[in-house]
Amino acid sequence: MNENNKKSLEVLTLFPEPVQALLNSSILRRAQAKGIVDLQAKDLRSFGLTKHRNVDDTPFGGGPGMLMRADVLNTALESALAEVGGVRENLKVLYPTPRGVPLTQGLCETFAEWIVKKDQPSKVVFVSGRYEGVDERFISKWVDVEFSLGDFIVTGGELPSLCFIDAIVRLLPGVLSDVRSNVLESFSNGLIEYPQFTKPRDFLGKEVPEVLLEGNHAKMDEWKLKTSLFLTFAFRPDMIRAHNGEGLPKWAVALLQDLQSRL
Ligand SMILES: C[S@@+](CC[C@H](N)C(=O)[O-])C[C@H]1O[C@@H](n2cnc3c(N)ncnc32)[C@H](O)[C@@H]1O
Repeated sequence: MNENNKKSLEVLTLFPEPVQALLNSSILRRAQAKGIVDLQAKDLRSFGLTKHRNVDDTPFGGGPGMLMRADVLNTALESALAEVGGVRENLKVLYPTPRGVPLTQGLCETFAEWIVKKDQPSKVVFVSGRYEGVDERFISKWVDVEFSLGDFIVTGGELPSLCFIDAIVRLLPGVLSDVRSNVLESFSNGLIEYPQFTKPRDFLGKEVPEVLLEGNHAKMDEWKLKTSLFLTFAFRPDMIRAHNGEGLPKWAVALLQDLQSRL
């Protein structure tokens, strides 16, 4: 990554230390060390008002809890925009919220592609809500995508943001040492991943499937895909229903159609 093409993902948060610690761990650390992407936790408090650095206030019309102020968040986003030369197309703003679109592998792929294609400095900012959330006027002015981790409430947007970042970064070229990992992972081909086994061969009388020990790669690949289809049928029938057979060999399309007819 050179300065003319710097790609960064930033978490705007009231808890920069623990977030930065995770951004500097494992695969995310490796991606930064390789110069593929820059990952930062930005302290929202540094944009706060008065000497107390306030970032929140009570909601108009009453209601429990506090809301994050639009003016404070706006200053933080103006600063992020300045970092990409003031070009709005080089900045994406994401807000994790229970009302957002579900976070899916497809959404992660869309953002990974956006990052890869950019030939100018670019930044994706994840605005981590806290308290009861953020002032609606901030969302309408800045937010490009509202995404949800699921139909449940967590205390803040940090964990959803970190999930999204982790999922995006592992898709960026050069991050994973074995490129097959992304292709074979659950969801990438519209199916759940096949079951896997390591040593010992015999665990409390349960043996590893024979086909995985024989070394016949064609047979192993067939077993993996077949098991993947059966597991998806059992765990995620919605994915079997939605699958159009794209990318599958002929025999697997026939099996897919048979499974679909049983739903
Ligand atoms: C306690 S929650 C606020 C929930 C909000 N009052 C509501 O009912 O929708 C605080 C913050 O956590 C984040 N959050 C909570 N649950 C989430 C979820 N399921 N997906 C994504 N973000 C979530 C959001 O950023 C939110 O602003």
